Amino acid sequence: HQGKDFPYHFHFPKTSRKLPQCLIIGVRKCGTRALLEMLNLHPHIQKAAGEVHFFDRDENYLKGLEWYRRKMPHSFRGQITIEKSPSYFVTPEVAERVRAMNSSIKLLLIVREPVTRAISDYTQLRSHAATAILPSNSNSATQASPATTKTFEELSILANGTVNTSYRPLALSIYHQYTLRWLEIFKREQLLIVNGDQLIEDPLTQIRRIEDFLGIERRISQHNFYFNKTKGFYCLRTDMGDNKCLRETKGRRHPTVDPKVISKLRKFFVEHNQRFYELIGEDLGWPE
Ligand code: A3P
Repeated sequence: HQGKDFPYHFHFPKTSRKLPQCLIIGVRKCGTRALLEMLNLHPHIQKAAGEVHFFDRDENYLKGLEWYRRKMPHSFRGQITIEKSPSYFVTPEVAERVRAMNSSIKLLLIVREPVTRAISDYTQLRSHAATAILPSNSNSATQASPATTKTFEELSILANGTVNTSYRPLALSIYHQYTLRWLEIFKREQLLIVNGDQLIEDPLTQIRRIEDFLGIERRISQHNFYFNKTKGFYCLRTDMGDNKCLRETKGRRHPTVDPKVISKLRKFFVEHNQRFYELIGEDLGWPE
């Protein structure tokens, strides 16, 4: 079996570490981990463990491509190596650097409806902030600092009632601003837009689009997914019959957000979404 899931110190003689031929560049909180794990079910795909952050962190980039290559898994000829670091999408230098490595690389950009993404981002940042300041033996969220107890509404809407565009979870949802640079550097055909909301509802349809985009056989099937009611998400079943759900940090419960704030934010994003659709030549139909 294609060398997967063996201890990493063991590898078949005919394998080697190759630079990635495909990158998941972002967007954070849109299902980047789920996407990578699902693609890794394919016998012709090998994923890099963890997020390597080669292109976006100078201290890594300066170590050179050989350092990066050594971070890659062993793969057989014909297998595709994929790495994902969601901050690639928003870091200005990255697209140029990726082109310098491989100008014909394939790029996957997974997006979600921007307000949902922002709330997911807020939820993650809040949980990090809470664990960072709590003593390890404490399970009381009431000790959180004032910054961490700010609501999504307080952070998103300024005192004068306008949208706080400098709040990072909102800024990162303005996808066209970042996409522009990628499309200045890569051909549109090299970039596949994956629908993160649909990846949650119906993973197989998105995965098939990616198999076609990567030019590999359709080998992932409905059999590889089962819905876990407790988690509320699809979990993965390998061809060896192992079941695996993503960690509990993936698929968190979001706070309830004031519907007036949601609708204000949705209105704010209408124009930005339109610009994104025009750039990519696809209408994702996000609610107004
Ligand atoms: P939430 O935790 O806000 O629901 P990323 O890996 O880029 O950080 O994205 C995390 C998001 O992946 C989760 O956001 C979740 O909605 C989404 N996701 C998509 N498919 C999933 C799956 N099968 N299991 C868990 N989370 C999934």
